[in-house]
Amino acid sequence: MNVDEVKQNAGPREFNPRDDLPEEYRKAATRMLEFHANSEIMGAYLERPFIRKAPSLERKMAFSAKVQDEIGHGQMLYRAAEALGVKTRDEMLDDLANGDGKFLNCFHYPMDSYVETPMIAFFVDGAAMRRQATLKKSSWEPYAHAMDKICFEEGMHVKHGESILRELMNGSRREQEMVQDAFETWWPRILQFFGPTDDDSTHHDFMSEVGLKTCSNDQLRNSFLNGYMQKAEEYGLEIPEYPRIREQGDGQYEVVEDDLDWEEFVTVSQNEYEGSIEQIGGRKQAREAASWVRDMFDEQTAAGAAPSPTAAD
Ligand SMILES: [Fe+2]
Ligand SMILES: [Fe+2]
Repeated sequence: MNVDEVKQNAGPREFNPRDDLPEEYRKAATRMLEFHANSEIMGAYLERPFIRKAPSLERKMAFSAKVQDEIGHGQMLYRAAEALGVKTRDEMLDDLANGDGKFLNCFHYPMDSYVETPMIAFFVDGAAMRRQATLKKSSWEPYAHAMDKICFEEGMHVKHGESILRELMNGSRREQEMVQDAFETWWPRILQFFGPTDDDSTHHDFMSEVGLKTCSNDQLRNSFLNGYMQKAEEYGLEIPEYPRIREQGDGQYEVVEDDLDWEEFVTVSQNEYEGSIEQIGGRKQAREAASWVRDMFDEQTAAGAAPSPTAAD
């Protein structure tokens, strides 16, 4: 198939590894999937410390389950990416550890306090749900298929985040203030989760034309705002005045995109923000620490034993 044929045939779950697909499609799908897989892994590393830091056994167990889910999402997506034949899973994991892999803006920032955890588990996972639900109709069938399982688990993550938010916002005045402070810090980053406005998004048109994406950044951001503005207020959070949010009538909202710091967004996205270096350093250490496990399985595989499992990451 050439690119025009791909565009003509593009539809939900239309293409799979048996299809002869052009380089442009395979590269674009790899870039998108690798970004998504990297983000799952980096999100898991941001939350991992809370398996210890969470204040009760129940919360620790929930964080433990969530972190395992996110690592699993990453692995499934690397497999769906690998099937495109552009990069191997190991190459993608090496790139991530070496600082060459790109991932979501929100996972570059440090998260130190327990009161910040609903910012990821409720708001960022809620934003992720908006995007991921639309990817069940992606034209790359292995991607869409992975989304069936991932969306199911993300639904649980949002409930877990919402439960922590509810508990903290029903806690002491001090707890409520701390959550409000965290919300004010994270809110602009969360609004940037969906990336730049469609006019400035370099890859948007091609991705839509070949059916890899089915919704634009702006549509997804607005859909998130329409749902989560109200939820934030229900729990007693005050939406910061800046960036300005405009009501467009009939309960629909839109952010004034020029109020967001896109320069910082680009620095972060290029892995050049100081927090990025710290997050990626943690990932590199973890990859190196488990290298002996991978080497052992590789040796066994070479010696004719069972194939290497994927557990070492
Ligand atoms: Fe996930
Ligand atoms: Fe999640």
